[in-house]
Amino acid sequence: MTTQTPGPFRGLFIAFEGGDGAGKSTQAAELAGALESRGLTVLRTREPGGTPIGEKLRSLVLDHGHGHIDAHTEALIFAASRAAHATQVLRPALERGEVVLTDRYVDSSVAYQGAGRHLGTEAVAGINDWATSGLQPDLTVLLDVDPADGRRRRTTGNAAEDRLESEADEFHARIRAAFLALAAARPQKYLVLAADLPVQELAVQILERVAALLALRQGSSA
Ligand code: TYD
Repeated sequence: MTTQTPGPFRGLFIAFEGGDGAGKSTQAAELAGALESRGLTVLRTREPGGTPIGEKLRSLVLDHGHGHIDAHTEALIFAASRAAHATQVLRPALERGEVVLTDRYVDSSVAYQGAGRHLGTEAVAGINDWATSGLQPDLTVLLDVDPADGRRRRTTGNAAEDRLESEADEFHARIRAAFLALAAARPQKYLVLAADLPVQELAVQILERVAALLALRQGSSA
C-alpha cells in the first residue's frame, strides 16, 4: 500500500461512518453548525457522490433497476466516485485550510464491499488507497448501530430502502463487525459511539474530540 503523502494540508479531515440508519447525517450537521459558530469554514460532503460524476455513479450503484451489479463492479464504482471526490473536492478544501466533514469514506467500502460482499477487506482497502492516493481522515467518527435497530430507524415513515439497505440483516452484521475491527486496529484515529445515545449527547462527545484535535493543530502551528 502507498503511504499517505504528508502534503501541504492545513485543514482537518473528518469522516462519519456507520451502518445504515446510524444517524451520520444528523451528527455531521450538528458538528458543522457548532464549528461554523466558532468561525471555522466547514465543507460538508458525502459519498458516494459529492461531484457531478459521483452523483451519477451514486444513482447507478444505489438505485434499483440497473440489472445485476456484481460485487467487483460495485466496489469499483464506489472507488471511482471516491477518486473524483478526493481529487476534486476533498484535497482542494483541505489545502484551503477548511474542516471537511464527509458522510462516508473508504471505511464504507472496506466494510460493505470487503466484508459485506466478501471481496476481502485488504483488497478493497488497497484499491481505495490507490483511488485516493492515500488520503486518510484525521478522525473517523464511527456511529455503531445494531442492524435491526438501523433498519427500524431508516424505515420509519416507510422510506424506501436502496439496493444496499435492502440486504439481509446478516449482511449488515458483517458490516458492523468490519467497522468495529477497523476502529480497534487504529483506536487513536477513531471515535466510536453507540448510535442509540441521545442526539445531543453524541453531538457533545463528537465536538469535544474535534475541539481537542483543532487545539492540537493550533498548538503545533504556533
Ligand atoms: P448513504 O449515503 O449513507 O445512504 P442514504 O443517503 O440513503 O442514507 O449510503 C448509501 C449506501 O451506499 C449505504 O447503504 C452504504 C453504501 N456504500 C457502500 O456500500 N460502499 C461505499 O463505499 C459507500 C460510500 C457507501
